[in-house]
Amino acid sequence: MKYILTSNEMKRLIAPSILAANFAELGKDIELINQSEADWIHVDIMDGVFVPNISFGIPICEAVKKTAKKPIDVHLMIVNPERYIGSFKNAGAQSISVHYEACPHLQSVITQIKSFRCKAGVAINPHTPISVLEDIIQDLDMINLMSVNPGFGGQKFIPHTFTKLEKLRNMIDKSGSHALIEIDGGVNSENAHKLFELGANVLVAGNIVFSSQNPSEMITMLKHS
Ligand code: DX5
Ligand code: ZN
Repeated sequence: MKYILTSNEMKRLIAPSILAANFAELGKDIELINQSEADWIHVDIMDGVFVPNISFGIPICEAVKKTAKKPIDVHLMIVNPERYIGSFKNAGAQSISVHYEACPHLQSVITQIKSFRCKAGVAINPHTPISVLEDIIQDLDMINLMSVNPGFGGQKFIPHTFTKLEKLRNMIDKSGSHALIEIDGGVNSENAHKLFELGANVLVAGNIVFSSQNPSEMITMLKHS
């Protein structure tokens, strides 16, 4: 499987979130992603503590791994994520993002993720300023800008994300960091073009893909928007 998170070059990737998939026939939806122009498979883990919702855990990630032909991008919306990095690596994760708000020892968790040969990402909530990443940005492979409050799929995109994205693009370029920018929440065919134009590299898309009549076409439309 080719590794995607490698260089500083501009990338425009689509990562469908299986949070919006049909869990009763998850294999079919993974196969659909395999056959599509999607680049990654985004796996949202929620613990009911860091966020007010519980999604699924390690066994589901393992099941995804069995069918997935694209890299698995794990987004941990959980407290104490350092306890589970190895388990998610074994369950197929190729990139793992933890929340800034859930990690008092963020640098140590990032080092831990990298020690498992996973790409390391940090996600920040809509109210968290990007300035908190200033002293860690050079260590990151990815920054996940949350464009909704984490916890649920199908929410409305928060427009202030555009301003944060512009600032973050600038900060990354100036710092020489190779971190990719991922946008997560409320992505749709109206905002995808602008997000890519402002320097986003990865768009997570849940509802817009899986509630569409033709998910594969929607993925293609988002990717080339
Ligand atoms: C929100 C999750 C998102 C979500 C995106 O807490 O992190 O990844 O699944 O879903 P949509 O695209 O429906 O907003
Ligand atoms: Zn997510």
